[in-house]
Parts: sequence; C-alpha cells; structure tokens
Amino acid sequence: TDQTAVLRDVRRGMIPAHIYNDSETFALEKERLFGRAWLFVAHESEIPAPGDYVVRRVLEDSFIVTRDESGEIRAHFNMCLHRGMQVCRAEMGNASHFRCPYHGWSYRNDGRIVGLPFHQDAYGGEAGFRRKGQRLLPAPNLATYNGMIFISLDPDAPPLEDFLGDFRFYLDYYTRQSPSGIELRGPQRWRIKANWKIGAENFAGDMYHTPQTHTSVVEIGLFREPKAEKRKDGATYWAGNGGGTTYKLPPGDLDERLRYVGYPQEMIDRMKAAWSPQQSQVIGRDGFMISAASLFPNLSLVHNWPRVADSEAVLPFISIRQWQPISENETEVLSWFAVDAEAPEEFKALSYKAYLMCFGSTGMFEQDDVENWVSLTNTAAGSMARRLLLNSRMGLLEDGVQVSPTLTPDEFAGPGTARTGYSEYNQRELLNRWADHLERPQPRAATVEVGTGH
Ligand code: FES
Ligand code: FE
Repeated sequence: TDQTAVLRDVRRGMIPAHIYNDSETFALEKERLFGRAWLFVAHESEIPAPGDYVVRRVLEDSFIVTRDESGEIRAHFNMCLHRGMQVCRAEMGNASHFRCPYHGWSYRNDGRIVGLPFHQDAYGGEAGFRRKGQRLLPAPNLATYNGMIFISLDPDAPPLEDFLGDFRFYLDYYTRQSPSGIELRGPQRWRIKANWKIGAENFAGDMYHTPQTHTSVVEIGLFREPKAEKRKDGATYWAGNGGGTTYKLPPGDLDERLRYVGYPQEMIDRMKAAWSPQQSQVIGRDGFMISAASLFPNLSLVHNWPRVADSEAVLPFISIRQWQPISENETEVLSWFAVDAEAPEEFKALSYKAYLMCFGSTGMFEQDDVENWVSLTNTAAGSMARRLLLNSRMGLLEDGVQVSPTLTPDEFAGPGTARTGYSEYNQRELLNRWADHLERPQPRAATVEVGTGH
C-alpha cells in the first residue's frame, strides 16, 4: 500500500476503508503509535496499599503496575531477567516480592533483584553475574493525572500534562467529582472481533449513531433524552488530545441540572468544590452535560444517566474503557466502573447496576454497538474495501466551511473547540493524530544488557 496516499486521504477526511482491517497498517500502529503515545494502564485506586499490583498490557508487552513499599507507583516489564519467563502470572494481588516460576529468581516490588539461587556456585558470584543495580525493566515513562496511571514506551515522550493538554479540563468531570477523586472497579475484559479504532472514534463524537443503532434502548424508555432532535442539540468539543459529546439539558442552574441526571445533593456540593468556576459553567450556565469522550489513542470515557427500572428516577454512572488492540481485527475491551470515592454507599451500588445495564459486557448499548463494528471490520478485509474512500467529513461543506458555527466562550465555557449538531470533527481529530504518528518512524530503542554492568 502507498502509506503516503493513505495518510493524505485521512487528513482530508476521506478514510481508506481497509485501515480498519489491514496487517500492514497494524504493524505501523504498533511501532509508531503504541510505541510512542501515552497509554492508560491503571488507576491508583486499584492499588491503594503498598504491595498491591495489577498486571496490564500494552499490546504484547506485559507490565506489573505496583505500589512499592515506599508507596511509589511503578510499572515494570513482566519478564524475568534470566531467561525471560513472565515473573508475575496473576492478574492482580498483593506481594512484597515476585519469584520467577522457572528458576526462582526473585525481585522486590520496586523491581530490584534480590534472590538468585546458587549465585556463587552457578555464576561465581558478583564476578560472573552483577546482581547489584539489576532490576526488572521499568516502563520508559510513567506519569499520573487524577490518579490515572499512564505509561509511554518512548523515553522521549513529551510530559503527560502536555500530551493531555486542555483535555484535562474534561477528564476532571469523570475522574474528579470530589477532592478524593474516583475509585475504579473491575475491569471486565472481553474480546471483540473488531478493529480498535472504531470504538475510539465512536465514543469521541458519534452522536449520529444513537437514534439508529440504539433504537431499541430508546423504545423501551431507558433514557429521558432519547429523541434524535435532543441529541443534535448537544455539543461536541475537542481539546488537547481528546474530545467528546454532551447532552443539552433543560433550563436550570448547576444544582438543578446535576439533580436532573440523578446526583444526590451531597455529591453535587462536592462537585462544586472540586470543579473550577469554568468547569461548573459548562453544565450550569451553558446546559451541556458531559457524555461520552475519547482520549487519543485508545481510552474512552462514559457518563450517562439511565432510568432505574420502571420509575422516573434516573441514575448516573461513569465508566472508563480501553480499546486494547490484539490484532488488526481483534480488540480486548477493558471496562471499568468508576465512582466518586466519597459517594454514599447506596449510590455506588445503584450506579454500578446502571453501568452494568448499559455498558458492562452484557450491557444494552454494548450489544448494539459491537454488532456494527464486527461487521464493519470483516467487510474492511477484502480487496473491494481498498477501492473505497469513506466520507468522514460530516459538519463540513465541500469548500471546507463549517455547517454549524464554533460556539463562542459565552455559549460554551470549556477550552478547545465546540460545536452543536451532528458532525465528524472529533473522528477527524482522532485520525489526524493517528496519521501524525504513523508518518514518523520511531527510533530504535536502546538495549539493556543483563548482569554485566553495561
Ligand atoms: Fe526466571 Fe530463570 S527465567 S529464573
Ligand atoms: Fe453506541
């Protein structure tokens, strides 16, 4: 394939259909995108105590994300320095040390090697194998925001704050509803036979699919704002490396609007304390309630408020999910339930049910969405898809003029660019960043020699 032509087409909003199922494209994504970008691996609330750990992947690379004895958060490549066995085989737990099952080398949870059986007899001690200073390979970069732990495989990655940019403003709605932040439960994990980009694009800005794909959810009355015309009144925004969608709520002030989506007053009071005046304005003054979003490349966030059973009451929930690529046509979905750590226990329990009903592995939205994405991925594999440039220019006239004007700061208080109406601005933003990464080769990483002191 002529990759230059592919990237040029993507940049003008014309998407070569085969990029949703192409091994060559996936090889480039692995090297140039996932080998470089900041990627979410865990939240601090998943490893609250010293010794707590979770094992998470970045494509084929397994990492042990731990809180060490001094409370510091670390991520180590889960490969024994001896002959490369996976050191930690459990998915989560608490351990002061990890012992390799193959020959028994052991490591502290800060990665340092401590035990090397028969060091003297087998190696002649330090003269043969330098144990001192040896540790499991750390992730080249690690940083956190609101307790969200990100790593990058690129030692020269820009600071996480710069990467997130103004998207931090929006990330706060999901991850900082009180000064204590959120706690995560899960993740549920499952695999779908779909390309990873489809979900990320959908959550970033696809308000257009809701009335069609989710017709049944609308018909059974799960939502208070099901109508297509309501959805297009919402705004989509893009800031930094992420963007998302909002619902336009009926008139009211901040308290009324947060009550409208089901928050109890004590949580509302904490949100007001945790958010900046500008963050409160987006909801309170402008009436836009944060809904789904994506952070480039493969993290998505959801905030929604389905009806509870047959009552008129609604219940909000937050979910964080990752589209973890397995191959060009398979994705592992990691889906966490998130809730304000200070929320009342009863709220936490009900909110969890609302999450499961909508976006758990058997959630109603989940079922609707994935059927489309699997079919799309299958159809993208063949030779005909290589003749098709999909139009991803919704919201733009042919001469590049916007269909809906950009909202002014008086209409939308948040940073970045926001517009109302159906559009594919955010999908284009996401794929433009994808193109930026794919066109830059990633330099070969330095190697680390084990046991020699070099
Ligand atoms: Fe781990 Fe040998 S491979 S101790
Ligand atoms: Fe959907």
